[in-house]
Amino acid sequence: MHYYHDKKNAVAYAEMCVGYDAAVQLEILFNVLPDGAEVLELGSGPGNDMQLLDSHYQVTGSDYSPAFVDMLTARFPDQTVMSLDAVTIAADGPFDAIYSNKVLHHLSDEELAASFSRQAQLLTPGGLVFHLVWSRLEAPEDETGLIYEARNEVALEEAMGSAFEVLETHSFGEFDADDSLAILAKKK
Ligand SMILES: C[S@@+](CC[C@H](N)C(=O)[O-])C[C@H]1O[C@@H](n2cnc3c(N)ncnc32)[C@H](O)[C@@H]1O
Repeated sequence: MHYYHDKKNAVAYAEMCVGYDAAVQLEILFNVLPDGAEVLELGSGPGNDMQLLDSHYQVTGSDYSPAFVDMLTARFPDQTVMSLDAVTIAADGPFDAIYSNKVLHHLSDEELAASFSRQAQLLTPGGLVFHLVWSRLEAPEDETGLIYEARNEVALEEAMGSAFEVLETHSFGEFDADDSLAILAKKK
């Protein structure tokens, strides 16, 4: 079983994240994507960023963990919540933008490339991806069994292949200075 599929791990994560969201970083998206756009969030977890997206966009929340999908469905009874793997993204689309916060480090390099390829298929022409990733990360010594793969701009561009043009990157600190990266890219 995946770590976050265990309800007690999902609940512990949600409790740790109370009061935390990516309001500062999301301003980058709010500045370029008009209100009312269709936005898909991958790996929404407890939904703190979905709450912010919901105030601007038609947002679809998602996660591959049934425990988080249940949490999201309870928290956002009027929004669409889907059970989606960030690699295969079995949604219909199209979406004007696809967003994630600290999800893509759980994908292998091959899975990340497959995810970006699928994201390109799901976007409208000129659609945006906006992802917040760890750019530096100490691999945890615990037994989560999850992949923890930090990615810099070069690695992300490589995974995007020729499908996207990077518009903007922004380093920021979550635990340590510049341990995280926001990347905004447009489907070519
Ligand atoms: C560190 S948490 C971040 C949650 C949320 N985005 C936030 O900022 O609080 C990682 C999230 O990614 C989800 N996740 C990990 N691998 C995934 C995958 N392959 N497909 C979909 N969700 C995944 C986990 O279930 C969890 O909700």
